[in-house]
Amino acid sequence: MKKIGVLTSGGDSPGMNAAIRAVVRTAIFHELEVVGIRHGYAGLMNGDFLPMDRSSVADIIHRGGTILLSARSEEFKTLEGRKKAYQKLQDEGIEGLVVIGGDGSFRGAKKLAEEFDFPVIGVPATIDNDIPCTDYSIGFDTAMNTVIDAINKIRDTATSHERTFVVETMGRHAGFLTLMSGLAGGAESILIPEMPFDIDDVIEKLKHGYARGKLHSIILVAEGIGDDFKTNRDINESKAFAIGKIIQEKTGFETRVIILGHLQRGGSPTALDRILASRLGAKAVELLLAGEKGKMVGIIHDEVKAFDIEYALNQKKELNEDIYHLAHILSL
Ligand code: F6P
Repeated sequence: MKKIGVLTSGGDSPGMNAAIRAVVRTAIFHELEVVGIRHGYAGLMNGDFLPMDRSSVADIIHRGGTILLSARSEEFKTLEGRKKAYQKLQDEGIEGLVVIGGDGSFRGAKKLAEEFDFPVIGVPATIDNDIPCTDYSIGFDTAMNTVIDAINKIRDTATSHERTFVVETMGRHAGFLTLMSGLAGGAESILIPEMPFDIDDVIEKLKHGYARGKLHSIILVAEGIGDDFKTNRDINESKAFAIGKIIQEKTGFETRVIILGHLQRGGSPTALDRILASRLGAKAVELLLAGEKGKMVGIIHDEVKAFDIEYALNQKKELNEDIYHLAHILSL
């Protein structure tokens, strides 16, 4: 193998740049040429290529976002689109590909590997942390810290005005980000898609809190919670607003709603995310050099491991219910 490509795809996450840096520098260390592919799979189909050397990834380890830019591509979901992409890889002489992204990006990687017998390795990067076969995905730790920072600030003003705040967090269909941020941020209630809840229990808990002198309450709501609180990203349709309305009506407490939104995707990656990205990015290149294809890298109990992407995509990442119950007990 002489030349590899690297791209970032789907929703960006802090630490993607650190992963690109690790891929490029590990590849160069092993005397491979590296091509950066801009705009994810869309750029791959259009041949949006950028030759990369050591200095092209200098001064990026601390930067959020992705220097290669990211996109979600409908065309790549079609066989025609993937044929186009494969042809571009052939034309450019790229013999292996590292895909940094979430589960949608992994589905594309799996198809490319299967249909064209092409060596592709996936590196998990999403603030949702919903990818199986890895304890953590790149960006999750930073996003948690961003949510906690937001909760701290909200708590200040909530206390001053003795208000209840409903805070909506990202995570798509998963509650990992909400649960862990809720535990670390000391939220009164954590509402996530994986755990059914009764809004009346949430309200009772709030009332008890106020009865024993609490000056504020924070309810953390995952954007993906159930059908009763239909969500889309239209702010007026947000489930958090629906919940805030019910709470205000049923308790009479002054309630405010805040949607943290895309600020959870930005910011300088934490040390943990930079380290994770460096380890996973390097391992992806080593797997390509070892002749592997259709694999993803993950971290399990602090050990970097490889799994078949197909196997990973057939698993469901389980939420730790003990943590959910612990958060409840600690907030009583
Ligand atoms: O998958 C990452 C994520 O930020 C989800 O948490 C969220 O639901 C989605 O992407 C938002 O997507 P977009 O940036 O396309 O609005």
